[in-house]
Amino acid sequence: MTFDSKAWLAEAGALIGDAHVLAEEHGDDLTSYTQDWGGKFQGRALAVVRPGNTTEVQAIVKLAARTKVALVPQGGNTGLCGGSTPDDGSRQVVLQLGRLNRVREIDTENNTATVEAGCILQAVQEQAASVDRLFPLSLGAEGSCQIGGNIATNAGGVQVLRYGNTRDLVLGLEVVLPNGELLDVLRGLRKDNTGYDLKQLFIGSEGTLGIITAATVKLYPAPRSKVVAFAGMKSIAQAVCLLAAMRHQLGERFTAFELLSAPAVDLVHCYFPDTPALLEANWPWYVLMEAADGGSDEALREAMQDALMSCLENGALEDVLLASNLAQGNALWMLRENITHAQKMDGGNIKHDISLPISAIPAFVDNALLMLDNAFPGARPIVYGHLGDGNLHFNIAAAADVDPGHWQLRTGEVNKAIYDIVSARRGSISAEHGIGQLKRHELAHYKTAMELDIMHRIKAALDPQGLMNPGKVLQ
Ligand code: FAD
Ligand code: MLT
Ligand code: ZN
Repeated sequence: MTFDSKAWLAEAGALIGDAHVLAEEHGDDLTSYTQDWGGKFQGRALAVVRPGNTTEVQAIVKLAARTKVALVPQGGNTGLCGGSTPDDGSRQVVLQLGRLNRVREIDTENNTATVEAGCILQAVQEQAASVDRLFPLSLGAEGSCQIGGNIATNAGGVQVLRYGNTRDLVLGLEVVLPNGELLDVLRGLRKDNTGYDLKQLFIGSEGTLGIITAATVKLYPAPRSKVVAFAGMKSIAQAVCLLAAMRHQLGERFTAFELLSAPAVDLVHCYFPDTPALLEANWPWYVLMEAADGGSDEALREAMQDALMSCLENGALEDVLLASNLAQGNALWMLRENITHAQKMDGGNIKHDISLPISAIPAFVDNALLMLDNAFPGARPIVYGHLGDGNLHFNIAAAADVDPGHWQLRTGEVNKAIYDIVSARRGSISAEHGIGQLKRHELAHYKTAMELDIMHRIKAALDPQGLMNPGKVLQ
């Protein structure tokens, strides 16, 4: 039977309201939904549908299942692997979750928030703060990414060191399955050993197994004090020693440990010239650290200062600045967060989001930099990331005299060279960004046959028609 797109759009409009069904056929511009944040992927879609509640999501999913239309779930569309971008268009619909943005419940005794998938991450943080709690997930895109997208990608960010990945923050989920049925495991339990923990399947599944419509997440006591420091050092090995020493001395109070290479810092200064110089001397590597707790600012500053001084004496760092106030601390964070934006402005960089045991990072970096020198002379490594989690963004920009467009054409070659080194050390080719369409071919190469087979069997069991975000994660 031929597919009648007009009839499909009309039926979707009848289910959720015509105003919430956008289509080129209706003269709507879909570009902001069909292109990814980094501008690497541009697809087409029959429509963008924006249901307003879980029942409407179910209705759309049932319609899609009956008419064999593929759905591409989309949150804030800030993902870095093309997971929320549709591909060919004729039979793909973007299911945009932004209208599911209600906070259903905040339980201050259970320390949980139950929020709908389309809530912007920053709004969830603010809701938590309004009841004197912390929702600790924090990342550069927090002003536009959605909690559903964070869960679907198992996002990491800058506080994983203390609070874990998104997976560690989720207690319960509500999920619309590919046949339109509702899986309600929206419980706020910290202990529940009643067989398989089904919610875990959907966390990090990048929209390939179902649509997350709501979640119950953990809240923590809001910290009363926070201190930020910035240190310079000669080597990554020193940074790894610094991490161990600071964790040992500050324990649970130590919340963030971010690595910045000199080229990454220089790039921010180039594209954001108002960024202040932070240390007097230049170093090949820098680390941004943060500690927070429930005591006074003075006590925390003193503890951080003591820890840093002993690290300076022990040779784990060469130079350090302890932010004197909130504004200086924010400026340090701005420097870190602006690396991603500066790289986008610079263009043509090949991104890698790898993880390794922290102890293996110095040797990996030495090895990978040497390989680059030999195999890709002139290429500019822009290395930074969440060293405290063993996660580096080992990005490679084009050599100064190479056209960024030509450099992009060498992505496969560069990826293979880096990922082979990572894989030989039993690391991961995607620590926190996911697979999407960017890394699906590499996943097929670097994951074991048995892991892939189990993933395919789970996919087939839950989504036998293959309509849930096809072409993402699995080939
Ligand atoms: P989208 O991009 O819309 O979607 C991402 C994936 O999730 C897609 O596969 C999509 O189909 C699926 N999806 C979205 N919503 C749902 C849903 N409700 N149900 C089922 N599937 C769904 N990531 C990190 O991990 N750490 C960082 O530090 C970090 N920093 C970033 C900084 C910047 C400046 C930018 C642009 C991105 C950064 N990211 C980071 C990547 C990105 O922000 C995260 O992956 C984020 O979790 C994606 O959320 P989103 O709502 O934008 O999801
Ligand atoms: C970050 O840590 O800044 C993000 O993961 C985004 C990026 O890769 O730049
Ligand atoms: Zn990151």
